[in-house]
Amino acid sequence: MATPPIIAGNWKMNLLLESSTKLISDLKKGGISKSRARVIVIPPATLLSSIADQIKNTGIFLGAQNCHEELKGAFTGEVSAEMLASVGCNYVILGHSERRTLFGETNAQIKAKMSSAIKCGLTPIVCVGENLRQREAGGAMDTVGKQLEECLIDKVSKDNCIIAYEPIWAIGTGQTAEPDDIEEIHSHIRNTLKAKEPNTDGIPILYGGSVKPENASKILVLPDVGGVLVGGASLNPKDFLAIIDKTSGKSE
Ligand code: 13P
Repeated sequence: MATPPIIAGNWKMNLLLESSTKLISDLKKGGISKSRARVIVIPPATLLSSIADQIKNTGIFLGAQNCHEELKGAFTGEVSAEMLASVGCNYVILGHSERRTLFGETNAQIKAKMSSAIKCGLTPIVCVGENLRQREAGGAMDTVGKQLEECLIDKVSKDNCIIAYEPIWAIGTGQTAEPDDIEEIHSHIRNTLKAKEPNTDGIPILYGGSVKPENASKILVLPDVGGVLVGGASLNPKDFLAIIDKTSGKSE
């Protein structure tokens, strides 16, 4: 069966026990369970267990923001894919641009994390995207192509992978990529996936970068956009619900 449109909310390093409980309660009151979209909430690690309990029987899925490539050991401060799966995560974001730029995460590390996540039954959401300098130099396609080449394990398929295209210059800036640019890069991603491995049809490709209720419709309607990865607007229940609502016209 085709995957329904995916709306994933990356809370980043935000919210505490009380404020996150209120957010989930507001989402439930707002009718999130009735949505035909696949809704994924991605809280910080401290909240995963609590949110897992709160979303039982709601149809909402749980994701984490990162994992370590090893399953256990002397890696102070790190969290493994096995640990995430054990508290109820279904998904894990890997290679978010903030991890790459602020914490020096490399493509090789992301690939190792991807293997580990899949081994533990998690679906990785692998992020790719160019910075402004790369875009202005006409290098967006090459940057994204190289990231895909080097981050993805060999046997990627729709059962073990989601890609998120997040142009760095659009994250948290209020600037969104134009529909034509999104289409161009998504089709490049699709072709790169196909050249790598024939069985990649149906891998969802999400767009992320200043997605808001005001621009979600024109992004979600694009043919090769399988959903959106939302940052700031996912912390506001009204905005997140409004974005989810825009999927009602999107076919599977
Ligand atoms: P914003 O929606 O706040 O731009 O963040 C996007 C993002 O980084 C999601 O992972």
